[in-house]
Amino acid sequence: MTAPNSFYPSASAAQSAAKNFALIPAAGVGARLGGTIPKQYMPLGGKPMLQYALDTFAASTAISHTFLVVSAGDGYIDDFMASQPQLAGHVTVLRHGGQTRQESVRNGLQAIGERVRENDWVLVHDAARPGLNEALLNKLVDALQDDSVGGLLALPVVDTLKRSHQTSSGARIETTVPRDALWAAQTPQMFRYALLQRALEQAQERVSEITDDASAVEMLGLQPKLIEGSPRNFKVTLAQDVALAELFLKEAP
Ligand code: CTP
Ligand code: MG
Repeated sequence: MTAPNSFYPSASAAQSAAKNFALIPAAGVGARLGGTIPKQYMPLGGKPMLQYALDTFAASTAISHTFLVVSAGDGYIDDFMASQPQLAGHVTVLRHGGQTRQESVRNGLQAIGERVRENDWVLVHDAARPGLNEALLNKLVDALQDDSVGGLLALPVVDTLKRSHQTSSGARIETTVPRDALWAAQTPQMFRYALLQRALEQAQERVSEITDDASAVEMLGLQPKLIEGSPRNFKVTLAQDVALAELFLKEAP
């Protein structure tokens, strides 16, 4: 196993030159939300969901460029981009979506290899988290700029957690899981380009264990840093999440 610093023999020089790029996987269909169009294009507070994260990254001086991964057959993206002149020059659309989020991210990383350097940071962010704002983005970038591994926004768990098993009369509690030290992962998840690419390549054999980018990095034996996120940055997943997202988005960003 290689420690991350071995990628960058001169860590301080590499860090000062490193840029931040956003990579947004948006090749899902939103099956659980169950709308008539993919959820990233669904209107939220009058704007397509995808627009919120793209606008946040495009407006940030910390982000050099945003790469958006959509599926090859996406019939919405051209009209969407044409309707967003403020994104021109800030966003590149990559039609390299895969069967899973992990595959979309991996394909996206592969596709941008010529445009980013090994030690540049990549912030992977779900299109389905429209609540990311500039304050959260800056908090993450500032906290990790000199970190040797990288990390992610996450929220300390507040609910009491139960592990269950199925019985003939439905799910029953097997045990209560102590919640101290438990966090719920959000995005962006921010790692150096070469490290993240290597982590996701190696994780291909263990697809079912990888539910986010950080878990692939963890499999290399590294410990990503947890930066406290916000409830407003939750992932819009089910139909009932839409009203909550609109409430958060109405608040001051
Ligand atoms: N995603 C992707 N490629 C896939 C699957 C998901 O790029 N093959 C993206 C989604 O577009 C979304 C993010 O990964 O921005 C998080 O995934 P999720 O919330 O699960 O979105 P969907 O997969 O679209 O929703 P569902 O699982 O309900 O179908
Ligand atoms: Mg999904």
